[in-house]
Amino acid sequence: MSVQIYPSILSADFCDLKNELNTISTADGIHIDVMDYHFVPNLTIGEPVVQRLCEIATLPTDIHLMIENPDRWAINYAAMGATSITVHMGATSAPIRLARQLHTMGTQACFAIRPSEPVEPLFDILNEFDTILIMTVEPGFGGQKFLNNQLNKIARLRQEITRQHLTTHIEVDGGINLTTAPLVTEAGADILVAGSSIFNSENRTQMITNLRQTAQQHYRA
Ligand code: DX5
Ligand code: ZN
Repeated sequence: MSVQIYPSILSADFCDLKNELNTISTADGIHIDVMDYHFVPNLTIGEPVVQRLCEIATLPTDIHLMIENPDRWAINYAAMGATSITVHMGATSAPIRLARQLHTMGTQACFAIRPSEPVEPLFDILNEFDTILIMTVEPGFGGQKFLNNQLNKIARLRQEITRQHLTTHIEVDGGINLTTAPLVTEAGADILVAGSSIFNSENRTQMITNLRQTAQQHYRA
């Protein structure tokens, strides 16, 4: 599998999003963080802004919903033509129903877990999701330090995906940079979200290339 790099626009200039998207056009997708001040202690953007982003995006869009009650709101984002919608295990009450609803709308379903949540409860329902997102920081803010203690979880998940002969992606989000990218792909992750390391770098295109290269070299499915 090819490793994919998804810049998180949480670290972009929110007053200049169109131009910011142009600076990351060599990436594999755009990661858009929606926060509601309830599920996480931060507030970002909602439907009107995400709608415009989906309209102008030339890359796949990955909407990370850090909101309460995604069972109610996720389909609104799917209707915007988003490529994938990510909902949190701790927020959804009917993940299988939601995943199936998203699939009927042509949207990929991704399920996310926080650092303190175990991955094993997902093992029996893995086939319902296209991607599992392992948070490698506590959700809510960019620029936090990568949590090394999530690496075993990634490895256990990869092992289980292989055991079940599935093609489920493992996405990681939080603290991904040139040092941590090889660690997560060695453990089995194949979609890497990176916010501050890309948007704060002098040359974003070069950083995307470097991240992809070092991550791919260490990728072990
Ligand atoms: C945090 C968000 C991330 C964030 C990652 O809750 O989900 O997508 O932008 O930022 P970095 O890469 O700076 O840790
Ligand atoms: Zn995110």
